[in-house]
Amino acid sequence: MKIIKELTQEIFKQLDSINDLSELESFRIKYLGKKGVITSYLKELKNLSLEERKLLGSQLNELKERLEVILKQKEREILFKEEDKDLGIDITLPGKKREVGNLHPLTQVIEELCEIFFRLGFEIVTGPEIESDYYNFTALNIPEWHPARDMQATFYLKNGALLRTHTSPIQIRAMLERTPPLRIIAPGKVYRCDADIRHSPMFHQLEGLMVDEDVSFSDLKGILIYFAQEIFGEKVKVRFRPSYFPFTEPSLEMDIGCVICDTKGCRVCGESGWLEILGAGMVHPEVFKAVNYDTSRWQGFAFGLGIERIAMIKYEIEDIRLFFENHFLFLTSFK
Ligand code: PHE
Repeated sequence: MKIIKELTQEIFKQLDSINDLSELESFRIKYLGKKGVITSYLKELKNLSLEERKLLGSQLNELKERLEVILKQKEREILFKEEDKDLGIDITLPGKKREVGNLHPLTQVIEELCEIFFRLGFEIVTGPEIESDYYNFTALNIPEWHPARDMQATFYLKNGALLRTHTSPIQIRAMLERTPPLRIIAPGKVYRCDADIRHSPMFHQLEGLMVDEDVSFSDLKGILIYFAQEIFGEKVKVRFRPSYFPFTEPSLEMDIGCVICDTKGCRVCGESGWLEILGAGMVHPEVFKAVNYDTSRWQGFAFGLGIERIAMIKYEIEDIRLFFENHFLFLTSFK
């Protein structure tokens, strides 16, 4: 018993001064190896009486098991320390701060727009980017011979489908899926064969549509003015111009006073003082016919705005391509 007590003390004293794996291994061999101290004591047990054997045996085995566990721990400790040394880590230093990412500026504008219209009771819907000719054109009162088809430089696919040139086909899909009254907005990607500092072959639009029994042109104006003030601030100047779209009648385009020169005229607004931001109008009866809505009961308005356009004005960005080139500094400046 005395030997075991002394042995235990000896072992733990030595353990403290072990600092690397080779020292640890020779220590293990010294005590637990085939000819190790503990192993040879265990071998000698057979020369003792049954009672002594029982007592000493259990104590020795206990010590052996404890030692095995401690050696494992010690090995882990040494490995961790060496790893830290290899990496040049000083574990007493404070940790590195993690960079938190931010949403893409266009995503931020889309979310802001959705929130504004959500507050006005509009439901957010989406539609497919690969469309049929019917939803993108025909159902929107743009028959095959219509010159408006040329205006929207369309990407056609081999199977006769096309990449939607605007989000307006979602108007048709939404009306077919629902019964009036309805209020929807639909953000999404659209495609036109066009590329320069102000045009990208893929860009984003937000479509809006409201159908009810008593909807007028002044409701449309009211909602558009509210939206412009929410996005650009209450002092924003707005202007409505008559326009033409096959799927609305009457149609308008909305401009806001140039945010750079405040309508005096500058390079950004082409000296006009105004920036065009959206097209809109009252839903054309031919469109209601395509979705089987009773035109004697329902009226509606629709609008479509360019997301990049809004973002460019809001953040004073002159080149639309910046949104898609993924320069790290550009993207992280929208935190
Ligand atoms: N779809 C039209 C465009 O892309 C915009 C628009 C939408 C106009 C809804 C009127 C009503 O130019």
